[in-house]
Amino acid sequence: MKKWKQKAIVQKTISYLPFSHKINYIFQKYVTRGLNLSADYFYDRLGHAREHIKGFRRYSDKTTPATCLEIGTGWYPVVPVSNFLAGADKIYSVDVTFLLTKLRLKETLHKFIESYHSGELKSYLNFLPERFDIIENIINSYDKLSVHEILEKLNIIYLIEDARKLSLPDNSICLINSNNTFEHIYPEFLIPILKEFRRVVKKQGGVMSHFIDMSDHFAHFDKSITIYNFLQFSDRQWRYIDNSIQPQNRLRIYEYKQIYSDLKIPISYESFREGNLNELKSIKLADKFANKPLEEVASSHCHFISDYTGSIN
Ligand SMILES: C[S@@+](CC[C@H](N)C(=O)[O-])C[C@H]1O[C@@H](n2cnc3c(N)ncnc32)[C@H](O)[C@@H]1O
Repeated sequence: MKKWKQKAIVQKTISYLPFSHKINYIFQKYVTRGLNLSADYFYDRLGHAREHIKGFRRYSDKTTPATCLEIGTGWYPVVPVSNFLAGADKIYSVDVTFLLTKLRLKETLHKFIESYHSGELKSYLNFLPERFDIIENIINSYDKLSVHEILEKLNIIYLIEDARKLSLPDNSICLINSNNTFEHIYPEFLIPILKEFRRVVKKQGGVMSHFIDMSDHFAHFDKSITIYNFLQFSDRQWRYIDNSIQPQNRLRIYEYKQIYSDLKIPISYESFREGNLNELKSIKLADKFANKPLEEVASSHCHFISDYTGSIN
C-alpha cells in the first residue's frame, strides 16, 4: 500500500480518538517526521512574515501594524514573533486548540537567535534591535518564566476560540494574516471566518494577507505521488479519505477568488505558483476539476492581499 494511503488511514483513525491533536503530533513528529522546526520551515514562514509586512507597508501609511491577528499559528509561532520583532504592540493568535508548548516556543526563539547571529535575519526583517534584546533576555531566564509570562513579553495573546466568532471589537486589527491554513478549512467554516475578519479589520489602515498551499499535503510526505493526486477523487470519495485532524478542502484558486468576490473582500494584490501542467495531466481528474481551465487547476500556491486602507464601510 502506498505511504500516503497508510498515513490517511492512521490519521482517520486518530481523528476518532480523544486527544486526537496530541496523538497526531506524536505520530507526525516521530513517525512521518513532518513536524520538526527545520531550517526550511523556519525560513519559509519567515519569508511569509516578510511578505505580510511588505504587503502592509505597500498599502498603509504606517511602517508597522500596531495590532496583528494570525489564524492557525500551529506548533511554532514564527510569524507572531516576527511581528513582535517588527514592532507590533498586540499580536493575537487564534486557534481552536492550544498547540504551543514551552519547549516549542524555546525552539522557535532559538531559531531567531541563530538567524540573527548568522546575519540572515536582517535580510528578512527590518526588526527593532531593542525587541531582539527582549528575546535574548527571555532565553537567558527561560526556566524561571512560564509560557504565559514569555508570551506576554512578546506581546502575543493566544485566543483559544473559533475564528467564526472572535472576541475582538469591530475595526480593531491593522494586519490579519494566515499561513498554509485556509486549505484546511472547508467553505462552510471559511466563509464565516472571512466575514469575521472583514468585521475586525481596520476599515481605514487595515490589510489582510493570506498564503494558501493548494497542493495535496500527502505528497509532501509520499514522494511517489504528485501534488495533484487528490484531484482524482470525487467529493464523495474524498469525504471518506479526508480526516478532521488535518483536513484538506482541495479548493482551487478560482474558488477562493469566488469566495472573496461573493463576500466583497477586495483582492488588491495576488501572486500564485503556476504548478506543473504535465504532472496535472498525468492524473485522471474528477469531473469537478476536469471541466475547469487546467492552468487554474494546476496553480499550487497563492497569496492574496486585501487593502482596506482607503475603505470607509
Ligand atoms: C495546518 S494548521 C496551520 C499551520 C501553520 N499556520 C503553519 O504555518 O504551519 C491549521 C490551523 O488552523 C486551525 N483552525 C481551523 N479551523 C479553525 C477555526 N474555525 N478557528 C480557529 N482556528 C482554526 C487548526 O486548529 C490548525 O491549528
